[in-house]
Amino acid sequence: QTIYLKDYTAFGWHAQSVALEFTLDPHKTRVRSRIAFTPNPDAPAQDFFLHGEALALISAKIDGQDVTPTLTDGGLTCAVPAAPFIWECEVEIDPANNTALEGLYMSNGMYCTQCEAEGFRKITYYPDRPDVMSVFTVTINGPHPVLLSNGNPVTASENHAEWHDPWPKPAYLFALVAGDLIAHEGQFTTKSGRDVALNLYVRPGDEGKCAFGMQALKDSMKWDEDVYGREYDLDLFNIVAVDDFNMGAMENKGLNIFNSSAVLASQATSTDLNFERIEAIIAHEYFHNWTGNRITCRDWFQLCLKEGLTVFRDSQFTSDMRSAEVKRIGDVIDLRGRQFAEDQGPLAHPVRPESFQEINNFYTATVYEKGAEVIRMLKTLVGDQAYADAVALYFDRHDGQACTIEDWLQVFEDTTGRDLSQFKRWYSQAGTPRLSVSETYADETLTLTFNQTTPPSAATADPQPYVIPVAVGLIGADGDEVLPTTILEMTQAEQSFTFSNLPIRPAASILRGFSAPVVLAHDADNAHLLAHDTDSFNRWEAGRTLARNALLGMITKGTRPDPAYLDGIYTLVNDTTLDPAYRALMLGLPSQSELANALHEAGHTPEPDIIHAAVETMREALAKKLGDALPELYAANQVSDSYQPDATQSGARALGNAALSLLTRRDAGAQAQAQYDSADNMTQQLAALANLIRAGRGDTAVKAFETQWKDDRLVMDKWFGLQVIEADPEDAFEVAAGLTEHPDFNWKNPNRFRAVFGSLALHHAGFHHASGAGYALLADWLIKLDPVNPQTTARMCSAFQTWKRYDTDRQSLIKAQVQRILATPNLSRDTTEMLSRIISA
Ligand code: ARG
Ligand code: ZN
Repeated sequence: QTIYLKDYTAFGWHAQSVALEFTLDPHKTRVRSRIAFTPNPDAPAQDFFLHGEALALISAKIDGQDVTPTLTDGGLTCAVPAAPFIWECEVEIDPANNTALEGLYMSNGMYCTQCEAEGFRKITYYPDRPDVMSVFTVTINGPHPVLLSNGNPVTASENHAEWHDPWPKPAYLFALVAGDLIAHEGQFTTKSGRDVALNLYVRPGDEGKCAFGMQALKDSMKWDEDVYGREYDLDLFNIVAVDDFNMGAMENKGLNIFNSSAVLASQATSTDLNFERIEAIIAHEYFHNWTGNRITCRDWFQLCLKEGLTVFRDSQFTSDMRSAEVKRIGDVIDLRGRQFAEDQGPLAHPVRPESFQEINNFYTATVYEKGAEVIRMLKTLVGDQAYADAVALYFDRHDGQACTIEDWLQVFEDTTGRDLSQFKRWYSQAGTPRLSVSETYADETLTLTFNQTTPPSAATADPQPYVIPVAVGLIGADGDEVLPTTILEMTQAEQSFTFSNLPIRPAASILRGFSAPVVLAHDADNAHLLAHDTDSFNRWEAGRTLARNALLGMITKGTRPDPAYLDGIYTLVNDTTLDPAYRALMLGLPSQSELANALHEAGHTPEPDIIHAAVETMREALAKKLGDALPELYAANQVSDSYQPDATQSGARALGNAALSLLTRRDAGAQAQAQYDSADNMTQQLAALANLIRAGRGDTAVKAFETQWKDDRLVMDKWFGLQVIEADPEDAFEVAAGLTEHPDFNWKNPNRFRAVFGSLALHHAGFHHASGAGYALLADWLIKLDPVNPQTTARMCSAFQTWKRYDTDRQSLIKAQVQRILATPNLSRDTTEMLSRIISA
């Protein structure tokens, strides 16, 4: 059953207040609700319908009188008075058997909830839609030392707690946690003097992994005050770490719940990238308090209203906390890897989709990451001050409301007087625009002619031109900046811009800072830009383009690695005036999946093993080129100060480890072994282990690592994942299959399942092995996981989304597996929707 944006209607009642009482029991939890409903005069006439799933109804009353509702598939209907009334009901639920991890469930003996998007209906009968906002009071009875819900505590005693959240909220922000947990405490005083108690609740044993997350929370609270003028609005802010969780984390009001991988951190067990990700996710969930909670979404089609904006805000935060240039490059690598693949395949959908079957399938890179890019473009177009004014108006005008993208764009129109109707296409059309540029130079004038086209997709048959902010600069022949960054506003399918008074032809640096999420085709002087571009993103991009073009030439024409690329990289990497983190990024190559896509776009059929071989050849060429400089590069980037997961130290380790991976090709892993033996932090230990596996001498270290870390779930996830990622393409699926036999392969735990199968899907040449064994293995396990956890199964289906790129043999192998999964009896709605969309292309 498909749900459409155009069919939106308001709910016929307001929920004035909600009182819930939980009596916890693993298999027989009782939930009593008391809700005051008043008719909504603005809504069309409708039956009184409450969502409800997997609930055993014990009793229902209206104004104290027993009623007998009609139970339907997804809820109940009931005759109600045409006046305000009190709804009371009692249901029984079974948290211990809730393996889908949606609603109230159990994880390692603790109770927790995940209600976004539509999980609250598995807790009690309710109008489970984000535009119904209410004030919640929650009572929890249960034999657990810690009993938590949203808002402020009213009373707490042994086995009993009452909570009151004064801020009206939709049900998806409800949360409950109960268990034997330990609090890591903190404190924050807001700008206007409110004392806020902070707690990070973890299971015993994890106390030593809380300090970093707590500091990240304080930094986030301060940043949102300083940059967006947003203060926290309760006296308490709780975070809870949970081992079994489908996504990263959840912004429940005053009670954020986190996948433990997204909050627990320590020097010994977490990599620098883990620390950075944790800091960003803590900020993301905290920032939702205003962009998501105080102002929420009218319906789930508006998901990007809160997610795009909150991702944009967390990217600004990370840029301020760390290095803005490094963050930008990382974000673009991620966007190209995940969002472009989605937007250029059968799962393409607009940032604001217009229909869905299962909303959980739309928590996508397009909604999140492209949604953030759209806001970034808007800010570029209107300027920083107008952006700040418009956002201030948004908070002012819409606080306490459930809003739409129209509301969001309106504050920008009202602030700037701009007409944003064409800009809005970024929200309504699917597909990645292709932007091509041609240059002419005559009479001291450079003319740039831009052409935009967006390929049609199932979601958008006939895409219309976008408003594209194109940031441009000009670099002179001797490397000086002739024109600083200038924003060109492209609105037509084809459009020219001229630059005069240029006695010598400059090199055009186009799409600086990646000013729009497009695929750029520009025959630029990349070697010159790599040496001289004054925009750090485009300087990196010039190297990336040289690398990509060289690899494509090696793959399609059998050419040698491009000396201009190798020379340029050599100079940059040895330029000690540049940030080590930036130099480490310079040593990266485009992913094999990205190369496969580029080949497909250029009309070639990608051969995964040939792509893999080309990348190996290129790495070998880099190792040879950097040759004698590598030991010095490695040594110069060893950190002797005590460990800090900050930008400076992480940058040094990133460059040191980039050097190590090239060095390993020359010393057969000797340095990697030395690093493994002396590592005092996970970044160094894991990088060394990866290199030892690559050098073919990892067996001892793999065993030692397992012995050392067998009791640490998060580190063991790395151990499972790394062996697959570093496997030879010939045995990647065998390695993955072997790991599923390991006693610690708890496949019902999403982190562990993803460690093996997410890694397999990321191993391009391994997953796409010509035998089809990778496809079959993944399909076997998706069939097994689907009845247990549809949401995680459906997300993993995206591994198949690129199938149309490949040769007909691989296409039929993939198609057969997808059809085999689709033929499984009682396949979930989640997985059915994903696979049907993939296969119908
Ligand atoms: N709102 C959460 C976040 O962005 C994501 C939760 C999504 N969960 C889900 N089951 N769809 O941080
Ligand atoms: Zn979010």
